[in-house]
Amino acid sequence: MYDSAMVSRRELPDREQRVAALKTAGYNVFGLSAADVYIDLLTDSGTGTMSTDQWAALLGGDESYAGSESFERLEQAVTDVLGFERIVPAHQGRGAEHLLYGALVDDGDVVVANTHFDTTRAHVAEAGGRPADCPVVDAFDTDAAGPFKGNLDIEAARERAAAVGADRVPAVVVTLTNNSVAGQPVSVENVRRARAVADEFDARLIIDGCRFAENAWFVREREPGFEETPIPAIVREQLAPADAVVVSGKKDGLVNVGGFITVGDDEDDLFGRLRERAILYEGFYTYGGMAGRDMAAMAVGLREAVDPGYLDHRIGQVRTLADMLERRDVPVYRPVGGHAVYVDAGVALPHIPREQFPGQALVCAAYREGGVRGVELGGFAFPGTDRPEFVRLALPRRRYHREHLEHVAETVGAAVDRGTALSGLEVVSQPDREALRHFSATLRPVD
Ligand code: F0G
Repeated sequence: MYDSAMVSRRELPDREQRVAALKTAGYNVFGLSAADVYIDLLTDSGTGTMSTDQWAALLGGDESYAGSESFERLEQAVTDVLGFERIVPAHQGRGAEHLLYGALVDDGDVVVANTHFDTTRAHVAEAGGRPADCPVVDAFDTDAAGPFKGNLDIEAARERAAAVGADRVPAVVVTLTNNSVAGQPVSVENVRRARAVADEFDARLIIDGCRFAENAWFVREREPGFEETPIPAIVREQLAPADAVVVSGKKDGLVNVGGFITVGDDEDDLFGRLRERAILYEGFYTYGGMAGRDMAAMAVGLREAVDPGYLDHRIGQVRTLADMLERRDVPVYRPVGGHAVYVDAGVALPHIPREQFPGQALVCAAYREGGVRGVELGGFAFPGTDRPEFVRLALPRRRYHREHLEHVAETVGAAVDRGTALSGLEVVSQPDREALRHFSATLRPVD
């Protein structure tokens, strides 16, 4: 558990202001000023509250260019918590991905994953590779039961890899929890089987471990044989099969910015290449674009993230929000995942066709109703896919209280209640890269 040691004031702008702000933002909530947002569930990334111990560590940050003591603290925390001794820091997760996939992937390669997160997909593609998603069959079934719907479909992965041949598959990637599949967890058994597939194709096994602690919590809850295993031991066991783990510290590092890659002991060559790329793109390999104080805070945050009391509360909050929403007849993805509640806007607003973005219509309505900011992760964010019309309500870590959750449920419930009074949207302008359109496109309501 935790209590609050610092607060920030928030005011709900009145309805007229919210309507005007949304219009000015081109009906894209990325364009809103945060000052106009009452409860911000856009992301769980870098938006949490640091502990008093982290703030204390921050003041002791060592800003040396090379050999910073804060880096050594971070290295030690990664060794203790994740079980890997060698790390290359980066300014955040995607910086780490740029180093890693740029070092591993060549033109025409195929990277197989349970589901690539957006930035992972972009970095694999940027390096000339083709990302191949192999989620389990019912991953996008919004109410199929299943303890580990974030898993890699092992047979599908094997088939995709076999289709291109071993020399074209540099990596098998497992993202845990699986952000693109409603934050669903991955089992330890599945990670081990992914390792076997990687070995068959002489590929590396990469784990995207942004949410390593949350995943371990689900393993303890659901995987036979782990019921009595302490969370820190599960964390190490689930990551141990990997050749490298790539982490955005903005999630289970419990900090506002930062990231790193860890590599196994037998990866001398990869470690060397990553360090070189770090110097080119991030910063010297004992800071990688982070301030010393940020590394110091992350060293503390990684240890706090595996505290079972914190995790019970954290994942409990996400479940509480899902239950509150369901009581207001808002359709949510079940089972509930680790960091967010995913609302199925296709079910909530069936009168809006996919090409008019029901998810984005719901996101806008939730902002208008009560100043709540979520994010669309359906047909607007992922054009050309048949993903459900998800709206993600991501909970920042240690930031909001039960009253906030009640306001969110009331607001989203009221938005859904508007039903056919809500209209769809059409794109007015969008960037050249369609894959990035939900960040900056502007829209307008369809008449
Ligand atoms: N991998 C996963 C699974 C992520 O969820 C993210 C970020 C990244 C990599 C990239 O990390 O933001 O530090 O560069 N996810 C955020 C989100 C942005 O809202 O889900 P980053």
